[in-house]
Amino acid sequence: MAETRPRVWVSQPLFDDVIEQLGQHVELAMTHEVTRYTPAMLADQLAQVDGALITLNERIGPAEIANAPQLRAIANVGVGYNNLDVSALSAAGILASNTPDVLTETTADLGFALLMATARRITESERWLRDGQWGQWSFQTMLGADIHGSTLGILGMGRIGQGIARRGALGFGMRVLYHNRSRLPEATEAEVGAQYVELDTLLAQADHLVLVLPYSPSSHHIIDAAALAKMKPSATLVNIARGGIVDELALADALAHGRLAAAGLDVFEGEPTVRPELLALHNIVLTPHIGSASQATRRAMVQLAVENLLAALGLGANAGNPPSAINADAVAAVKTGAATVGGKKTDDAKR
Ligand code: GLV
Repeated sequence: MAETRPRVWVSQPLFDDVIEQLGQHVELAMTHEVTRYTPAMLADQLAQVDGALITLNERIGPAEIANAPQLRAIANVGVGYNNLDVSALSAAGILASNTPDVLTETTADLGFALLMATARRITESERWLRDGQWGQWSFQTMLGADIHGSTLGILGMGRIGQGIARRGALGFGMRVLYHNRSRLPEATEAEVGAQYVELDTLLAQADHLVLVLPYSPSSHHIIDAAALAKMKPSATLVNIARGGIVDELALADALAHGRLAAAGLDVFEGEPTVRPELLALHNIVLTPHIGSASQATRRAMVQLAVENLLAALGLGANAGNPPSAINADAVAAVKTGAATVGGKKTDDAKR
């Protein structure tokens, strides 16, 4: 009798040649057009497969997996996985994975690029030039804030935060402060050139504050009106983590009324929709969630997701042992009936 191969759904067009590696082991259901899925569409797709390779635009919770008895593995192409209800997946015995490490330096690059564009008013300057306003130039046109020698604040000190700290301390001679749920070992602090402070100190002292912490109920709107009021009016804020970390209406209000100099946002609460209050501002740089978007890194993320998925389905070189599983312990516990489910890793170091 012919062996039945597992069925795998790939939710978006990715890198076809990398995805083809899956095709050597599984029956592939590829998606050739970029697609926005409703929960019902996701449920339909997942009902038919053993594994799925998805992006952060696909939100998977109890409703999406309710009719997917054979679903065993979900590989998220991304390091953040707030699009997954990990507890629900664990309870259903579904092994979830993400793509840490391979995107760290690329995302730290983007964080720094956004910081520089924001502090030095790069996109605003370009709009002004394209609008034909150069004839209005004065000595005080487009004055921004210095980066070199200033104080860089980092909220969330996982791998990407550490990459940003290194860039600031070693490349730009910045004084780097950070806050994180757990303090880094002293040797790591010394290596990345960063000093631990309480959150209020971070807010009060940063000339530039970069947000790199994972999104969870405890980080929801951690940067709200009260937090913004603690920052210097001359400060810049950069968010490359998740939109929900910032109260966007409070941010727009602070930027509109001179209580904060400028902001750079790569992530938004209602992606792909951006609030009109943000779009109306001149002192803001907006990018469409491109933190990890270099050719090499996006390819490496898909490669890692493919390895994770194959391994979770018991196939390939790492069979049974996905390189970056999120809930392996919880799934194992469910399978052996050994423990109640949880398995949701929310540690800052995931980023
Ligand atoms: C992007 O935001 C990611 O989590 O990989």
